[in-house]
Amino acid sequence: MNPVDDLIEFLRFQSVSADRAYQAHVHECANWLEARFRKMGLSVQKSSTSGNPVVVASNEHRQGRKTLLIYGHYDVQPPDPLDLWHSPPFEPVVRDGRIFARGSTDNKGQILAHILGIESVLAENRDLPLNLTVLVEGEEEIGSPNLEGFLRENKTALQADVVAVSDTGMVAPGVPTFTYGLRGILCMEIRLRGPAVDLHSGIFGGSVANPATELSRILAKLHDDDGKVAVRGFYDKVSPVEDWERQLWSALPFTEQSWLEVTGSPALAGEKGFSFLERVWARPTAEVNGLAGGYQGEGAKTIIPASAMAKISFRLVPDQDPFELRTAITDFLKRKCPKSVEMEIIYQHEGKPYLVRPDSEFGKAAQEALRRTFDKPIAFVREGGSIPITQTFKETLGVDTLLLGLALPDAKVHSPNENFPIENLHAGIRLNRELLNQIAQLPR
Ligand code: BES
Ligand code: MN
Repeated sequence: MNPVDDLIEFLRFQSVSADRAYQAHVHECANWLEARFRKMGLSVQKSSTSGNPVVVASNEHRQGRKTLLIYGHYDVQPPDPLDLWHSPPFEPVVRDGRIFARGSTDNKGQILAHILGIESVLAENRDLPLNLTVLVEGEEEIGSPNLEGFLRENKTALQADVVAVSDTGMVAPGVPTFTYGLRGILCMEIRLRGPAVDLHSGIFGGSVANPATELSRILAKLHDDDGKVAVRGFYDKVSPVEDWERQLWSALPFTEQSWLEVTGSPALAGEKGFSFLERVWARPTAEVNGLAGGYQGEGAKTIIPASAMAKISFRLVPDQDPFELRTAITDFLKRKCPKSVEMEIIYQHEGKPYLVRPDSEFGKAAQEALRRTFDKPIAFVREGGSIPITQTFKETLGVDTLLLGLALPDAKVHSPNENFPIENLHAGIRLNRELLNQIAQLPR
C-alpha cells in the first residue's frame, strides 16, 4: 500500500481521548494498529488499561544487539472548533503537498513514519539490525494517566538501551532538528461559587460578590507587571540557559517576525528580560486555557452569575517539580480568594520537564541518521511543548529519549486545519531506516 493511503486510513479514526463520546473510535484505532503491526510480521500485544489500550509490537529480541524502544500516540486532540476547518477533520485530504486532518502531525503521521520505516527494512531483510519494541498509547493528549503504571508493570519486556520519539518539531521544512529539552506541565481547574442562583444584578448588585469578577481578579494576579508568575517560590528551581545553548539557538532560522507570523498575534509578549525563544523553551509560564461564567448568549442579561470557572495550566522547565508547585499554586490561589466566594480547585494532569545532553553516543547516532536523511546541518532545540513520559522513561527504565520530530512550525497541531507534509512522511520513513542502522552499529 502507498504510504499516503495508509496514513489516510489511520487518520479516519476519530481517536479523541479527551471526550468519552469517542471511546468506540479510540478502540477501533487501536485494533487497526494491532492488525497493522501483525501484517508486517511483528508480535503484537494490545493491552487494556483502566483507560485506552496500549499497543506494543516487537521483533524477536536476541542477545548481543542493541534494543530500541519507539514511542508514539494514536490518540488525538478534540477537533473543535469545527467551523474553522476547510475540510472535515476526520476526512483526510491532500492539498498542496500536505495532508489535512486532526492528528496528521500530532502524532499519526509521525508514528506511521516509524512504522513504515521499520516495515521497509523488514521487507528487504526479513529482520531488523537490532531489537525493537514499538509502544503506541492512546492517552498522551490527556496526560498519559495509565502509562507510568504500564511501564512499571512491564519493565522487563520494555527494557531498552534508548527510546526514540517523533512527536516534536522541525525548525523549518527540510531542516533536521534534534530536540534535547521539553517543558513540563501542570493543569488545573478553578471553580468559584457565589450566590445560590444567578441573581438580578439591579436588585442585588453591590451587595454580594460576583464570581466572574472575583475570578478575573484572581487570574490577573497570576502574573506581575513584568510578566513573571507571581506564585511564591515558582522560580526557585528554574535552571538557567547555558551559553552553548544560546549559541546554538542564535543560528536558528527564527526571527521575532517569523514567530509572529506563525502565531497570527498582533505582537509578541511575555516575561521581561528574555528572548522569545528563551521564553518558550526555557522559562516557565502560567496560562488561562479556558474561562467561563455568566450569560454567553445574544444580547444583554443583567445578572450576577452564581459561578465562574477557569482552566489554567503552567508550563514548567528543569528542575521545577510539578507536585511541589501544585501545593504552592493552590496556596496562592486560596490566599487571593475573598471570603465572599467559595473556591474549589480540581487537579488535572501534570508531567515533568525533560532535558538531556545532546552529545551522548545515542544522541550522536541519531544526529548521524538526521544528517544522512536531510543532508543539512542539524538544528539543536528545546521545545515549549510537553511529552511527560520522556522523563518517566528516564526514571522507570533508566534510559534517554531521542526526540526526532517531523512537525513543521505551521502544522497547526491542536488547532483547526492540522496538516502534515507528504514529504515529511517520506523523510520520516528514511530517517527511521537510518536510525535503526546507526543505533545497531554502536559498539556493545
Ligand atoms: N506532540 C505534542 C508535544 C509537543 C508539541 C512537543 C510540539 C514539542 C513541540 C504532544 O502531543 C502534546 O501536545 N502534549 C501535550 C501534553 C499533554 C500532557 C497534554 C502538550 O504539550 O500540551
Ligand atoms: Mn499533542
